[in-house]
Amino acid sequence: MASVPLRTDTTTDDTLAIGRLGAVLGLRDEPGPVALGPRGPYLVTSVVDTRRVLTDSDAFLFPVDVTRRATTGEHAMITRLRPDQVARGLATFEHELCRAVVAWAADDAADAMRVLREPVARSTTDAVLGPLEPADRDRVADLVLAWIDALAPVIAAARPPRRWSGTRRAERAARVDLERALADLRVDAPTVSAVELAAGVQVPIAAGAWLLVLLAENPAAAAEAARRGLATETAWETLRLRPPTWVTARMTAREVALEHGTVPAHAVVLVSPLLLGRGPDLLPTGSADPSLFDPARWDGADVRPGAWLPFGAGHHACPGRSLGLAQLTALARWGLDRQVVLTQPARIDQTRGIFPSPALLRCGALPSSPEE
Ligand code: HEM
Repeated sequence: MASVPLRTDTTTDDTLAIGRLGAVLGLRDEPGPVALGPRGPYLVTSVVDTRRVLTDSDAFLFPVDVTRRATTGEHAMITRLRPDQVARGLATFEHELCRAVVAWAADDAADAMRVLREPVARSTTDAVLGPLEPADRDRVADLVLAWIDALAPVIAAARPPRRWSGTRRAERAARVDLERALADLRVDAPTVSAVELAAGVQVPIAAGAWLLVLLAENPAAAAEAARRGLATETAWETLRLRPPTWVTARMTAREVALEHGTVPAHAVVLVSPLLLGRGPDLLPTGSADPSLFDPARWDGADVRPGAWLPFGAGHHACPGRSLGLAQLTALARWGLDRQVVLTQPARIDQTRGIFPSPALLRCGALPSSPEE
């Protein structure tokens, strides 16, 4: 897998079949597990094996337990957000989205990855830590964004940057600034919270940007979803075709027999919600071709969306799942009410999960209905 060149391209389905994404998607019909190199990593391709890898935490170890092994030695658990936290985060998201788009006048193209930064960062910060004074919340949200920006070159580097390199130092400084701010707010486990906040900001920003890009790329499907009021379905369809965490890894503690084969001890095993989402068996009976963006396929469907596990499963499943889905659904409601147009083709960046770059969009009133 490491030998597959990293490339970016437009987001249409043909050109999705490139680089690492292409290598994984090309194995859709293999029963798996498939060795991607002489000594792995191994890609599992079935739902049964994927569930096993994510839920059997004795056999499949989380490679770097950043969330529980905090640098301070804390072993705090990240627990699922409560409904009141989700409600607070959602209210903040809706409020901040309105603010952010005021500047996004009908004629001005803006990058969705930028427009969504503050709404998502403030929403997640409010949900995880709140209720906070707006000034405190905004300061923490800005520090989370600064840490994410400083982490980007570390994650994207072909080889891990040296400990004392400028890149590492900048990343460490940004993390320490965030942890200090959290400690000032008397947050119990600042290191754990910093990780939780970062995980809960970058991924929803990417998912939201994909949602708007997909609406712009598929105006007929968007119009149909708008006509039928399919905001939640639009959120799920986005997570099916463009799950930002499109692949995740575990390490085998011992040799493990899976549904269709055996994986050796101490091997890296990959699971991919992107790959699973293309399987027709997880889609409603008789629904459109799996490669098409069609939120309407979930309207009154005979299967529930999410079987492709865009939020993971098991011990490390996403604790912010309800908030992420609520943010995306609110964004879909907003986007379906408008005409969203790409001013240049979006391309896929595969350096940190997958996100669209650029995602330059113009938004305006729907042709037939006046703007609210
Ligand atoms: C659309 C939005 C989101 C998507 C698609 C998403 C997806 C995921 C996935 C797939 C994982 C599991 C990774 C693995 O098993 O290796 C994960 C973990 C995680 N997510 Fe999310 N997430 C989203 C939103 C959020 C939000 C809003 C928060 C914070 C409030 C959050 C916090 C976390 C944390 C802390 C983890 C690590 C859990 C652990 O290791 O125990 N996520 N997410």
